Amino acid sequence: MSATAAKLELKYLSGFGNSFASEAAKGSLPVGRNSPQRPPKGLYPEVLSGSAFTAPRAENRSTWLYRLRPSAAYGPYERISDGLLRSGPFNEVEVPPNRLRWDPFPIPAKATDFVDGLATLAGSGDPAMQAGIAVHIYRANRSMSERCFSDADGELMFVPQQGRLLLFSEAGKLEVSPGEIAVVPRGMRFKVELPERQARGYLCENYGAMFRLPELGPIGSQGLAQERDFLAPVAAFEERDEKCQVVVKFMGGLWATELDHSPLDVVAWHGDYVPYKYDLARFMVINTVSFDHPDPSIFTVLTSPSGQPGVANCDFVIFPPRWMVAEDTFRPPWFHRNVMSELMGLVRGVYDAKAEGFLPGGVSLHNCMSAHGPDLATFEKASAAELKPQKIENTLAFMWESRYVFRPTKFAMSARELQKDYDKAWSGFKKLYK
Ligand SMILES: [Fe+2]
Repeated sequence: MSATAAKLELKYLSGFGNSFASEAAKGSLPVGRNSPQRPPKGLYPEVLSGSAFTAPRAENRSTWLYRLRPSAAYGPYERISDGLLRSGPFNEVEVPPNRLRWDPFPIPAKATDFVDGLATLAGSGDPAMQAGIAVHIYRANRSMSERCFSDADGELMFVPQQGRLLLFSEAGKLEVSPGEIAVVPRGMRFKVELPERQARGYLCENYGAMFRLPELGPIGSQGLAQERDFLAPVAAFEERDEKCQVVVKFMGGLWATELDHSPLDVVAWHGDYVPYKYDLARFMVINTVSFDHPDPSIFTVLTSPSGQPGVANCDFVIFPPRWMVAEDTFRPPWFHRNVMSELMGLVRGVYDAKAEGFLPGGVSLHNCMSAHGPDLATFEKASAAELKPQKIENTLAFMWESRYVFRPTKFAMSARELQKDYDKAWSGFKKLYK
C-alpha cells in the first residue's frame, strides 16, 4: 500500500482489487474483528457486499464501513422524475442497423447537478437480470449539495471529457480529471462536486459483472494497465446533521428519501469493494513492431465478463497517444464488421480512423455487423503515406464494446446532435480494381 498526492492533495491507496484499510480518525478501525460488541468511538459497523457471499475468493468483494449512523436509518423512498435517464430493457424506439454519430451535447445553462444532467444515449440488457450496460452522458454546472446518489442497478465508470470531478463517496474522496477514469461500485453512496465551473463526460453503468483487469495471455505479467496505478480513496467523512436527500437508482427508476444527516459519515473502513481511479496516461500501449494492425482488444484497460469465456459484457478500450511503426501496412483501423457492438467517445484530439466529424465530447455507435472503418479522406491519406515512424499525439478516444447490441434511446434518436449525414463518411470510394 502506498499513498500518492494529487491536485487537491488527496491521498490515495494504490492497487487493484486489494484489501485496503483506512481510518479518518486514529483508532476508529476495529482491529482483529469486524463487529466488536462495542466498536471504537461509538461507530456503527456495517458491511457492503458487492458480490454474493459465496462468490469465489478472487471474485469476492465487500467492505466493512464504520459510521456515525447505520445507513438503515431512513424512511420510504418515493419516486422522482427520471429526467433523461433511461434503463434497460431499452425499448423506446426500434433499433436501426444504421451507423450513428452524435455531436457533443451542450452543458445546460440552467443550474444542473450531476444527477439532473444525466441523459441516456443507449444501452442493453436489463438491471433486473444483471446483464448489459447503459451509456449516459453527464453535464453539470454545480456541485451536488444536500444530496447523494447511489446506483443499485450497476457500477458506474466515469470518463470525464471536460472539467474535473470530486467524487466524495462513503469510502472517501477521489478527484478525477479528463484523461483519467473513475469507477464507483454498485450501491455505494456518493456525491459529485465540481472543482471547476462545469463538467461533462461519459458514464457507463455496468449492470453485469464488475470491471476487472483483462487476462494478459502471451503478453505475460506486464503491460496494458498495471495494478499499482489504480488508486482508491482514504477514509473521509462529513459530520453534517442537516437535511440530505438520498437518490437511488433501482430497477431503472430514480427514487429519493430524506435523511436528517449526511450519509457520507464513514469514519473508517476496510475491504476490497471500493471506488477507484486510473490515469489513462499510465496505460502501457502494445502494438505491432512489424506489420498489420492488431485487433483493438490489445488496448483493453478493463473488462466486464459476460460468463462466456472471452466474450465481454463490456470491454473498456482506449486509443491513446502512441507510435505507429508498422511497415507495408494500412495503419489506421481497418474496414470491418463485428459481431460485438462498439460505442465510442472522444476525450480530446482526433481519432485516427476519421478525418472529421467525430468531435471531443461526441459519440459514435457501430452496432453488431454494421460495416465501418476509415472514412474516405483517412483511407486516401493512409494509403499514400510514407511509412516512417509516426507519433499519434494529443488524442484520447475510447470504446465500450459489448456482446449486446446498444439500443439507442428516444432522446438519442431525436437529438439535434444526431448527425444526419454520417453515412457520407464512407461515400465516394471508387473502384480501384485493375
Ligand atoms: Fe470498429
